Amino acid sequence: MTSSAVLFDVHERVATITLNRPDALNAINADLSAGLMEALRRVRNDDGIRAAVLTGSGRAFCAGADLRAGSGPGASSGPAQLFATDEREGFATFDVKKPVIAAVNGYCLGGGFEIALACDLRIAATEARFALPEITLGFFPLAGAPMRLPRAIPQAFANELLFLGERIDAETALRWGIVSRVLPADELLSTAQAMAAKIAGYAPIAVRGLKEIATAQADLTMPQAMRLGAALRWVVGQTADAKEGPRAFAEKRAPQFRGE
Ligand code: COA
Repeated sequence: MTSSAVLFDVHERVATITLNRPDALNAINADLSAGLMEALRRVRNDDGIRAAVLTGSGRAFCAGADLRAGSGPGASSGPAQLFATDEREGFATFDVKKPVIAAVNGYCLGGGFEIALACDLRIAATEARFALPEITLGFFPLAGAPMRLPRAIPQAFANELLFLGERIDAETALRWGIVSRVLPADELLSTAQAMAAKIAGYAPIAVRGLKEIATAQADLTMPQAMRLGAALRWVVGQTADAKEGPRAFAEKRAPQFRGE
């Protein structure tokens, strides 16, 4: 990685991306933003990587936009503008093509929360805290939260987060459906990596197709989604892996998926 603000590690087809500015609670400055985009491009472009885990070092997942970079000497923009730079815009809409699991280890605030919302699966440590404090700072979230959150969870909960800007704990995040599991901190990363490894063992073309329809459906009507799903399902059905799965079942053995 060209940026030290983001660590990148690959183990058996699973990439682990670690936001790494612990002294600033992994707040998003230009360096971290560029490093994150580089990491995501690597996940997308490297055929040897089938899934990724995204986490933070220290006591935060990510505390959002670097508020000091935004207002400090020499800065060309304030916090609201920071979210509108190409990198931020890029992250909010970037299609990694492969499943990304957010392992939320601590503070998950503002743009950090939006990074987690852009992931396909989210799990959290007991210590995790979630908030969208932007409205308390004089602006509002610009990297996906007002669009993604009401699609992901009931609007009543989404609007509490968006309009009050208050922090919620991990158990509340679980109850509201923001994360699917809450775990002790020392089990978080290994659990996320085990989940990613499981996905990485499945037929990769089927996983890609599933990600495409599961993501796209949010923007489609049900008939449109069913048509896209049928087209993708047809493509996946032509692969050797789609024949290998049922054959392995019938022969009472583990499937050998080859990505073909
Ligand atoms: N931007 C820049 N630096 C940040 C930051 C941010 N978003 N969030 C935390 N930091 C820095 C602090 O300035 C501090 O640096 P210092 O030690 O050099 O003073 C360091 O990270 C630790 O934070 P601190 O506030 O001392 O920890 P805390 O445990 O008392 O509080 C928070 C933690 C998360 C509650 C608090 O840091 C906070 O509210 N941060 C801002 C979060 C936010 O509003 N994000 C949304 C931005 S749109």
